[in-house]
Amino acid sequence: MADNDGNVTSKDFGVGIAPPTAVFPVKGAQHLDWGMQHRLAAMFDASSGNTVMLAFDHGYIMGPTSGLERLDLVIPPLAPYVNVLMGTRGAFRTCVPPTVNKPICLRATYDASVLFDDMSDGGGVAADIDNAVALDACALAVQTFIGAPGERRSLELLARTVDAGQRCGIPVLGVVAVGKDMERSEKFFLLATRLLAENGANVVKSYYCDGFERVTAACPVPIVIAGGKKLPEGEALTMAYRAIAEGAHGVDMGRNIFQADDPMVMAQAVGKVVHESYTDVRAYEFYLDNKGR
Ligand code: R5P
Repeated sequence: MADNDGNVTSKDFGVGIAPPTAVFPVKGAQHLDWGMQHRLAAMFDASSGNTVMLAFDHGYIMGPTSGLERLDLVIPPLAPYVNVLMGTRGAFRTCVPPTVNKPICLRATYDASVLFDDMSDGGGVAADIDNAVALDACALAVQTFIGAPGERRSLELLARTVDAGQRCGIPVLGVVAVGKDMERSEKFFLLATRLLAENGANVVKSYYCDGFERVTAACPVPIVIAGGKKLPEGEALTMAYRAIAEGAHGVDMGRNIFQADDPMVMAQAVGKVVHESYTDVRAYEFYLDNKGR
């Protein structure tokens, strides 16, 4: 209760000491509102400025993907080794205990299943902003189909999600999807990543490509790379190493972690590259020295 008598007298005003001036460490986020920055700060490590996101949303179009047959058994043990969990609302609500205490990136859009094998639809809203707030999401992921028939629809979903995220202080991860017949060239990724950032994405998820340093330079927000199909562990670490060396701010990796021989050690090895400046060679040595223990 406010009390005017007997209070300790205020005296420590720090006269002459300038207020701390901190530059917000996430690319392109300097002018965002406090809530946006707070969520981004939870996703990106304060020291490295990078993030390891674990993507396990594959079931939303692929069903029980190898390695993710039992989300409830696979995801919680991996959580300590990553910065962010990325999945669907169904996966979080059924298989990830809230006590896992990690920022979550919630997949906000649905797409056609693998049975259709095309990108013509553009998807729809799978989890709206109320769900994101209810799930305490740190980010919303929107799949986009640049250069495919679903482009227009997916950009509309991106714009609407950015609008809603802006109102609630929730950043949006724009995901660049690549169809099996589409080029994976520097020219394509320059276009797609820049396009998503200029349409409001706060973070962009892309694939690694030749000329990647120009892709990251031209994108005004952080790029995190998808892992793609399972590679031998050493090759996946080389891809992560090159991406970080060429300006990526992390990975949003799935199969190359949860389909590894030892997913928990692989997650840590990826973290060594992303956060601790390990070379791919050193990170692979770490993997070999520790796997199966
Ligand atoms: C992409 O949008 C998918 O839903 C996955 O999140 C993505 O492909 C990342 O997983 P992976 O590293 O297995 O490619």
